[in-house]
Amino acid sequence: MIIVTGGAGFIGSNFILSWLKEKNEPVINLDKLTYAGNPDNLSSVKDHPHYTFVHADMGDRQVIRQLLSQHQPRAIINFAAESHVDRSIHGPGDFIQTNIVATFHLLEETRAYFDQLPLEQKAQFRFLHVSTDEVFGSLDPHDPPFSETTAYQPNSPYSASKAASDHLVRAWHHTYGLPILTTNCSNNYGPYQFPEKLIPLMISHALKGKALPVYGDGQNIRDWLYVEDHCEAIMTVLDKGKIGETYNVGGLNEKTNLELVEMICRQLDHLKPASLPYSSLITFVKDRPGHDRRYAINANKIMTELGWRPKESFESGIKKTIDWYLNNENWVNNILNGHYRQWIETNYQDRVSV
Ligand code: NAD
Ligand code: DAU
Repeated sequence: MIIVTGGAGFIGSNFILSWLKEKNEPVINLDKLTYAGNPDNLSSVKDHPHYTFVHADMGDRQVIRQLLSQHQPRAIINFAAESHVDRSIHGPGDFIQTNIVATFHLLEETRAYFDQLPLEQKAQFRFLHVSTDEVFGSLDPHDPPFSETTAYQPNSPYSASKAASDHLVRAWHHTYGLPILTTNCSNNYGPYQFPEKLIPLMISHALKGKALPVYGDGQNIRDWLYVEDHCEAIMTVLDKGKIGETYNVGGLNEKTNLELVEMICRQLDHLKPASLPYSSLITFVKDRPGHDRRYAINANKIMTELGWRPKESFESGIKKTIDWYLNNENWVNNILNGHYRQWIETNYQDRVSV
């Protein structure tokens, strides 16, 4: 069996749903259920015989120790993190605590578990750390995309905390021989993404007739990957990745934020026409401090060495995503509670349109 941390979040829950569809192997989901963790994402599998949920912090050493000794997993996949750049700007403390300190505790307990495994189980065991392309910093328009050898230059508290966790994971391999794998992926989109992030935020605002807040000039570029393709990449790396190596994962699909928001508006005009085109709601607002200009991924290593490729085109992926949000308005409405409203106020109140 495997243990997944952070499986109630956006990518983790998509991963567990794919895992249970494709594999005949139990999975334990250990999640602290922060504001971003949502058990509803996994309601369809809550009684699945191969699914177990454990409500805990990955930094709780006693819980981790007990879980590892009881279940003897053959792998841990570490998704758990604080993941939103804007929140890291308003309050970096939780990012340091979870992404660095809790990852350290998880690594220490994993090392103690790994060290006492019999040789045969040792050879099978993997610790797969799910990371981000943001650790590489920002690209200029004509720079080559990030590769596995690009130097780390994180610019936000979020990316700095993820870079720190990548370094810890690397060191636990180099020094202690922990069999680690790391993936650095570009921006994901798809079902179950918390509506603080660009795509679900734009869809949910548009459907409510609210302003669509585009930061700065809207020319920042992200490389978008459909979440199920990311999940397939993680399964591929788990199966075939070389111990100690890192793999960049990307969508081969760079878009400016403005292009993306206009595309969402056009799809919504078609699927749910309103009295005015949705693009009339686009509002340019004050930029994110330290906003990285461009991310792009060179995914040649995972494609040539492990045979992974993204399957979803951006056109079909964004259509599926918008359809999902249109058919799951309750999922979004359940999130739009007091805490969420407070966050929207904190992040957007001083961003008057420019
Ligand atoms: P998310 O914020 O949607 O989910 C994070 C999950 O981790 C939540 O369920 C939360 O409850 C849980 N969690 C937080 N702190 C925890 C702790 N201390 N112990 C246990 N659980 C805890 O994040 P996501 O977008 O699904 O991202 C998952 C991972 O993938 C993160 O490590 C992120 O850095 C990385 N990543 C995300 C993207 C993206 O576009 N979303 C791209 C590349 C990499
Ligand atoms: O690149 C991978 C990263 O992608 C992950 O590591 C992060 O966990 C994930 O949150 C994401 O980070 P971004 O900062 O790129 O995602 P976000 O959805 O917050 O923003 C995408 C772009 O859209 C970014 O340039 C900022 C811009 N933006 C965002 C919001 C929320 C806006 O213009 N308006 C907004 O309201």
